[in-house]
Amino acid sequence: MLVNMRKMLNDALINHYCVPHFNINNLEWTRFILEAADSVHSPLIIGVSEGAVKYMGGYTVVSSIVKSLIKELDIKIPVALHLDHGSSYDSCKEAVKAGFSSVMIDASMHDFEDNIYITKKVVNYCKHYNISVEAEVGHVGGTEDGKEKSILYTTTSEAVKFVNATGIDFLAPALGSVHGLYKGEPKLNFETMKEISESLNIPLVLHGGTGIDDEKIRKAISCGICKLNINTELQIVWSNAVRKFLDQDKSVYDPRKIIKSGEAALKEAVIAKIKLLGSENRS
Ligand code: 13P
Repeated sequence: MLVNMRKMLNDALINHYCVPHFNINNLEWTRFILEAADSVHSPLIIGVSEGAVKYMGGYTVVSSIVKSLIKELDIKIPVALHLDHGSSYDSCKEAVKAGFSSVMIDASMHDFEDNIYITKKVVNYCKHYNISVEAEVGHVGGTEDGKEKSILYTTTSEAVKFVNATGIDFLAPALGSVHGLYKGEPKLNFETMKEISESLNIPLVLHGGTGIDDEKIRKAISCGICKLNINTELQIVWSNAVRKFLDQDKSVYDPRKIIKSGEAALKEAVIAKIKLLGSENRS
């Protein structure tokens, strides 16, 4: 059974830990991530971008895969299936209709008032289905699903105005993190992060989890981050393991063996991240 993110993130806020959001790409990744999180009893957010939805065959395919794996593998932890960076009201609606339990509406490419208008429309729709809603103010930088954005830092007054006007459950403020690999050191604005968290008292989300060192992640959690999004790091860990396997055995051609060769490394990275975030044994 899927759950929305409210209970897990509000618990993380009260108890000062963070729930991981891992992006999936296919059936196998979904299984590896579910099994790894279940083995250490961590609540889990499975994030799926619109690009990944398209790649996997559509919203209902993704939702069926996740739900079926939870059932077949007897997964006991709470799992939220979350649309990552939904770009429109229609894509959020499609995800909800297909059985996703949570959505992010990312209308941050529009101006502030339009972002409020679109986000509010999604919140109103999701209310009827008990679906949690995350939204972004400012721009998280970097590249996601092939789209490039530069960083636009969120201010506290914007964050407060946006949350009050829209009624979202969780806010992803842009405070210096980027999607994908950093060019240089990430420069996170912890002061504003803390200020936004204290002003709003709702769980905050940090995008661009790859490349932020452990100490900065711990500090972000102490400043109110309750959900950390991780995508690229798992892709790198998995593909390095697969590349090594293929280099060692030039005769292998069974796709199951090839995809599986990244399983141990992927699971190890998932468990290490869960331990760092403090979500182990919180399910
Ligand atoms: P990374 O690819 O940098 O880990 O970011 C993931 C993310 O924020 C997904 O929304």
